[in-house]
Amino acid sequence: MNKVSKRVSSIPLNPHRVLIAKAHELWRRGIKVYDYTAGQPGLPPSRSALEFFTEMVKKDPFNHFRYIPTQGLLELREALSEDLKKYGGIDISSDQIVITTGGAEALLIATLTLLDEGDTILLLDPCYSVYWDHVAFTKLRVETCTQSFNREFNPDPECIKEKLSRSKAILFASPDNPTSRIINLEVAKTIIDVAYDKRVWVIYDVAYKHMVYDGEHVWLEKYAPSLDYLVVVGSFSKDLAIPGGRLGYIYGPRDIIEDLVKLKAIFGIVAPVPMQWLAYYYLREGFKEEYLREVLLVYKKRRDVAYEAFKKLIPEARLYKPKASMYLFPDMNSYLEKLRLSDLDFTLKLAESKGVVMLPGSIFGNAGKGYLRITFVTMSEEDLINGFKLLREFLEENKVL
Ligand SMILES: Cc1ncc(COP(=O)(O)O)c(C=O)c1O
Repeated sequence: MNKVSKRVSSIPLNPHRVLIAKAHELWRRGIKVYDYTAGQPGLPPSRSALEFFTEMVKKDPFNHFRYIPTQGLLELREALSEDLKKYGGIDISSDQIVITTGGAEALLIATLTLLDEGDTILLLDPCYSVYWDHVAFTKLRVETCTQSFNREFNPDPECIKEKLSRSKAILFASPDNPTSRIINLEVAKTIIDVAYDKRVWVIYDVAYKHMVYDGEHVWLEKYAPSLDYLVVVGSFSKDLAIPGGRLGYIYGPRDIIEDLVKLKAIFGIVAPVPMQWLAYYYLREGFKEEYLREVLLVYKKRRDVAYEAFKKLIPEARLYKPKASMYLFPDMNSYLEKLRLSDLDFTLKLAESKGVVMLPGSIFGNAGKGYLRITFVTMSEEDLINGFKLLREFLEENKVL
């Protein structure tokens, strides 16, 4: 008999962890590791924000560490409401916002609140690997529309029209992980039109909404007739650079907020309270704006360097220059076919032989097979290039370049 529940044992292990464990093992063996796997910001959080926060904690520790109502710190929800107005020009009131323990929890809470076991959810393939874990855990049926290289990783609007009308919800991110694409307006409007016509939920993941280098974030709220079928999931991990602080949020129509809060209470009562205060200071004191101005310049430079170097060193890979997010997502199929290796085996061999750790595209869905996800924000420009040189060496040694 299984010692653990079917609920858990039926969920496949995500190979993501194998690669991260590999990077750690190489590092412990004293090998110089070029780790391109992390989805985290490449620079520490704002020093000014941290100093301000520390002073405030010292002044009033009790208040910063006590329990607060499940929906989240009112000051933070009000500041977020103003922030959404400032950056997106949208009106979301503080009572429509729920603060969560990271965007990942927000996604799970939204999914569990809006869908029942056996309901169909539409995903864009490839997509953030956690979506696959969540749909397995919540026992949803999945339909997919492919986001192909030829469409700059946007889905075909015809596929959306056909499959969204048969689904209960769509879940997607823009800017995207792993493809880094910003959703195009034709697709965005098609999603909203079909969803509002057929009363289908749109769960919109905007974890990377500020990580934009060219073009603009798409505020779906502006194209929706109301918030009735739109639930937006956000994160403070990337823009405030506090992924370990575990803070995210959901906003949506008023008539579901009580149910979201009910689930949030079950999932650990309340999101980390000191982090809610930190996020509040970031927003209220202007640290966020100042911080984003500084880091986006660094990330953009790293994006440019990584893109140019990869293009030059690995010439047969098909690669888009990401307009947003944190990842290069090259199509390596032409090399992998010659090597007769899956993307997972390729990444394992590359890690073992060169200390270069990248994620196989297949962990983000079938349509990601043969691609690599390469984070460009976490390393210096020099290291980004040196790791790519080692990747090239690996391809040369295996006689495919
Ligand atoms: C697309 C996307 N959504 C949500 C998240 C969740 O982030 P967190 O739980 O740290 O807020 C991530 C993290 O990498 C992500 O890539």
